[in-house]
Amino acid sequence: MNKLVRFGVSLEESLLRAFDKHINLKNYNSRSEAIRDLIREGFVKKEWQEDKEVAGTITIVYNHHQRELVNKLTDIQHAYYNLIVSSHHVHLDHHNCLESIVVKGRASKITELTDRLKSSRGVIFGDLTMATMAEELG
Ligand code: NI
Repeated sequence: MNKLVRFGVSLEESLLRAFDKHINLKNYNSRSEAIRDLIREGFVKKEWQEDKEVAGTITIVYNHHQRELVNKLTDIQHAYYNLIVSSHHVHLDHHNCLESIVVKGRASKITELTDRLKSSRGVIFGDLTMATMAEELG
């Protein structure tokens, strides 16, 4: 466990008021926890921008009746098999499927995979949650 270090922060009053409003809305118990999260979010963003080894989840929603779409999505995923840790398929209703794909690897390759899945004709929704391997953020 990392040792906690205290430090003072000076802020404009209006900025602090806005921050307190934000942390109340988000249900934080303390400013410290909210600040820790903001710092970590910044570092995670940087990891993706600097093309580091990262983790994340790709979510897609598509209509499985769309001609050739299921085959295409499978082909794409096989082309990136080394990034895919697991995938979870949910039949939402008679027509639509949701797939949640957990990925781990180089940020640019994960973004490339997401873009290929998302841009396939018949994919109604596609999104990437950019997470982290948390090696330096614990
Ligand atoms: Ni399905």
